[in-house]
Amino acid sequence: MTQDELKQAVARAALRHVPNGAIIGVGTGSTVNFFIDALATLKDRVRGAVSSSERSTERLKAYGIPVLDLNAVDDLPVYVDGADEIDANGAMIKGGGGALTREKIIAEVAAQFVCIVDASKLVPVLGKFPLPVEVVPMARELVVRRLRALGGEPKLREGYVTDNGNVIVDVHGLAITEPRQVENTINQIPGVVTVGLFARRGADLALVGTAGGVEERSFR
Ligand code: A5P
Repeated sequence: MTQDELKQAVARAALRHVPNGAIIGVGTGSTVNFFIDALATLKDRVRGAVSSSERSTERLKAYGIPVLDLNAVDDLPVYVDGADEIDANGAMIKGGGGALTREKIIAEVAAQFVCIVDASKLVPVLGKFPLPVEVVPMARELVVRRLRALGGEPKLREGYVTDNGNVIVDVHGLAITEPRQVENTINQIPGVVTVGLFARRGADLALVGTAGGVEERSFR
């Protein structure tokens, strides 16, 4: 199976976790694009979606799936999103697609985080994938210095502006053995909007696309 076929398989499997008549949270990325395509085949089953990026919003709307403002929604039974890396405890690196802040906000509201990945995203230790950090532009160099002091090699994502008008610094060379601690530490740096470590609120369930089929891993 190709990587896209694995992504498609987990995207379809995620439909089983979408309750009838619900408003659901929808993430961002190539795997989520397949999920949105699959959701469109059952779109009358959901009342609508809260979206984590302009890209996902556009795709949802193109299928006629209503997109709601998160402020108009009290709760979300489920949030479906991909990850750049996920460890054995359900902690993730996210933000390769730059949507980490809205992703973290929606994940916080959702009762269940269903992570959809192909098997290449499973790692023993987070950090091989550069850790994205969304930063207020005027704090860029301050944050870069602080991240360097933590042992990483921060690199500005050139020419990239987030949906929130900020920049992204990708931190290379970290081996994140204590994801919660690193998440807390980086979040404390003034000017950091969000670090793309999802450990404090990790995945509840991962659907992993493998050559042998979709495997479910439960973390809570
Ligand atoms: C978007 O900002 C990211 O958090 C994505 O969820 C993550 O990068 C996974 O994307 P793919 O499904 O494209 O690998």
